[in-house]
Amino acid sequence: MSTTILAIESSCDDTGAAVCIDGEILSNIIASQKIHEQYGGVVPELASRAHMQNIVPVVDVALQKANVQLSQLDAVAFTQAPGLIGSLLVGAQFAKSLALSLQKPLITVHHMQAHVLANLIDEPRPSFPFLCLTVSGGHTQIVLCESPYDMKVIGETIDDAAGEAFDKSAKLLGLPYPGGPLIDKYAKEGNSTRYPFPEPNIPGLNFSFSGLKTSILYFLQAEKNKNNNFVEENLRDICASIQQRIVTILLNKLQKASKETGIKNVCIAGGVSANSGLRNGLTELGKRLGWQTFIPKFEYCTDNAGMIAITAYYKYLKKDFADITVSPTARAEW
Ligand code: KG4
Ligand code: ZN
Repeated sequence: MSTTILAIESSCDDTGAAVCIDGEILSNIIASQKIHEQYGGVVPELASRAHMQNIVPVVDVALQKANVQLSQLDAVAFTQAPGLIGSLLVGAQFAKSLALSLQKPLITVHHMQAHVLANLIDEPRPSFPFLCLTVSGGHTQIVLCESPYDMKVIGETIDDAAGEAFDKSAKLLGLPYPGGPLIDKYAKEGNSTRYPFPEPNIPGLNFSFSGLKTSILYFLQAEKNKNNNFVEENLRDICASIQQRIVTILLNKLQKASKETGIKNVCIAGGVSANSGLRNGLTELGKRLGWQTFIPKFEYCTDNAGMIAITAYYKYLKKDFADITVSPTARAEW
């Protein structure tokens, strides 16, 4: 007997639906909301409204692409936390209503755990235990993963997330939101050693990015005072230098975590794992230190429902179902 799951993701500004049969993702559909660009960040109220418009067509396409009928579903899963509460509510209400009407089990998924388990979607899969650097717009964590059911955060940011560091730096450079992918694009043609930004001295496995943002702000103010066109003339080198610093902050802590735990299976996940500097940096470091490194396919790095589906599949195997009265929450414990 096979197990067919429909999973919904709506924690932030992307509406996602995926269908998974026995742990294999057959469709992974995402509707990204362009409306936030003009505001320089996600506007929660607009995000909820766009989710309401998108959710039915996105689910329809996901089912069609997987060639699955509603009546064939064995469970419905959704992102329960963390995220924007108005956005989460749309996915939760949809999933709960569908599960209720089909009389099928409901499965809740923790968005950050799902980012980690995105590494289990395709071959090659990491064996347990592994470390996962989860870097997104809202989180920066090092997670020790013993099994799909046993994950522990062993380091995290004390202020901004890595994605925020990219996006806020981009904003200082006058680039539109979300600026991470644009910094990545310009960095490819720039000299990363031209402007050495400072590395913060944070104890243990924790991260901090707010000092970097301040140093970039002061640096740009000083340079613009000398030359009003400084950013335009040097955009590629500035982007490369910012990216280089963010990446070295992340990889230095990951290296420390591997040394402390003795674990050499190392993954990355989350929106920032789409960054080419981080992907190349991890691969190079892994080769040097004898790590097995794993990076999810691009479509499973940024927010997506495929990662919700794979996590739900493991929960299904344990019959870990939620009550229909369950509510989403903006914050969540691990
Ligand atoms: O995981 P995600 O899609 O959503 C959250 O849960 O936050 O991550 C979004 C973040 C944004 O900050 C975006 O700028 C960043 O991931 N991002 C990138 C790249 N692609 C997405 N940052 C740097 N380089 C990229 N190529
Ligand atoms: Zn995310």
